[in-house]
Amino acid sequence: MKKDRNQKQYIFVCQGKDCLKNGARQLQRDIEKLLKQRKRCQLIKTRCMDRCKDGPSLVIDDVWYGKVTDSDLDEVLNKKAAK
Ligand code: FES
Repeated sequence: MKKDRNQKQYIFVCQGKDCLKNGARQLQRDIEKLLKQRKRCQLIKTRCMDRCKDGPSLVIDDVWYGKVTDSDLDEVLNKKAAK
C-alpha cells in the first residue's frame, strides 16, 4: 500500500509501570521536543504494550523499538519519523 505524503504518522510510547521505571517519561519528553518541527508526527502515550522487559518501548510504523535511550532517539526518528 502506498503511503500518502500528508498522512499523519503516530509514534506510540509506552507509559506503563515498567517502562516508566526505565525512563519512559523522559523519553516521551525528549520525543515531544524533537517532534515540534515535524508537523506530520504525533506522539501517542500508551499503556503497557506487553514488551515490559524491553522498556522503554516505542512503536513507529509497526516497528518496535526496545530499550530506547536518548542517544538512540535521533537515529530512530531521523530514519523513521516523517518530517
Ligand atoms: S510497561 Fe511498557 S511494555 Fe509493559
